[in-house]
Amino acid sequence: VKFNGKHYRTVWMEGSSVFLIDQTLLPFEFKIVEIKVHTGTCDAIRDMTVRGAGAIGAAAGFAMAQAFLEAENQAGQGYVDKAKLLIENTRPTAKDLFAATGRVYNAGMMGAGQAVEEAQQIATEYISHALAIGQYGEELIRDQFRILTHCNAGWLAFVDYGSALSPVYAAWNNGKKLFVYADETRPRSQGARLTAWELLHEGIPHCIIPDNAAATLMSQGKVDIVITGADRIAVNGDVANKIGTLEKAILAKEFGIPFYIAAPLSTFDRACRSGAEIIIEERSENEVLFQHGPDPAGIFHTIRVANPGSAAWNPAFDVTPAKYITAIITEKGIIKPSTEEILNIIP
Ligand code: MRU
Repeated sequence: VKFNGKHYRTVWMEGSSVFLIDQTLLPFEFKIVEIKVHTGTCDAIRDMTVRGAGAIGAAAGFAMAQAFLEAENQAGQGYVDKAKLLIENTRPTAKDLFAATGRVYNAGMMGAGQAVEEAQQIATEYISHALAIGQYGEELIRDQFRILTHCNAGWLAFVDYGSALSPVYAAWNNGKKLFVYADETRPRSQGARLTAWELLHEGIPHCIIPDNAAATLMSQGKVDIVITGADRIAVNGDVANKIGTLEKAILAKEFGIPFYIAAPLSTFDRACRSGAEIIIEERSENEVLFQHGPDPAGIFHTIRVANPGSAAWNPAFDVTPAKYITAIITEKGIIKPSTEEILNIIP
């Protein structure tokens, strides 16, 4: 995407360094961080400096490539095996992280150069897949549509263009008039912070809604289509995505609104028969109990927003059963969330 006249990917690699747009500072500050070692890239994935299924997939691939480069001066095989485990233990739910790590690990068996090449290839594929998702998904969006989306599945989450937002960008660039409702997406507020920031920069009319406002919005007939991303898709069409997706899907069915998932084939998990098998990441209760942001003078603070002494539960994702999903938009076309169509399309 272009920001301040310059083209950026969300994550990229030059030499042995990984570069990331620090998503923990957005929308308040646009800062690029350089990470020189694979352990640092792992930290960035874990603390969500980089986040979003595709972006962490690309970052994980780069981390694996960094480990191969480091291993040239270290203990070889044991070093890269340990690195692979470390990368895979950063975040458990997004399939793309494991797909990319595995691909780069296999390529690295031929040499560190091949590992880097493979990691670069994965990042480039994410861009072309996101573009294709945009082209297929755009056909679902009619002029004057009001679109609801959850979390951030835009270019920040996907190296470029995005998954759920890619069709929105395509429709907007084709001259369709749109309005986007961005769910706030507590506790990390990816909708209020990141999706809203992306949409504002693209000039797309939008507003942020509290997570608990979707039912009212839909009941008033103000949503024409819901599109979200995905972190892992089971063979039976069940989808893990950011916590809160499930309730939007149930609501959409209740109000007769089409509910679409947008994701590349790398998000599908052939080994996962149903959503019940997907490991759901649980994150620190502090993400619920505290919030971080600038005061009016621009000084950052962490403030407590919940009752002192009370505990919190913080599942990062939920699973939406296939029965709530109208269809899945992939880079190879739009498919029904059925085992037959999924097995037909995944490599
Ligand atoms: O912000 P994260 O990394 O915890 O969330 C992952 C996601 O980006 C969302 O679940 C998104 O909707 C999936 S598609 C990029």
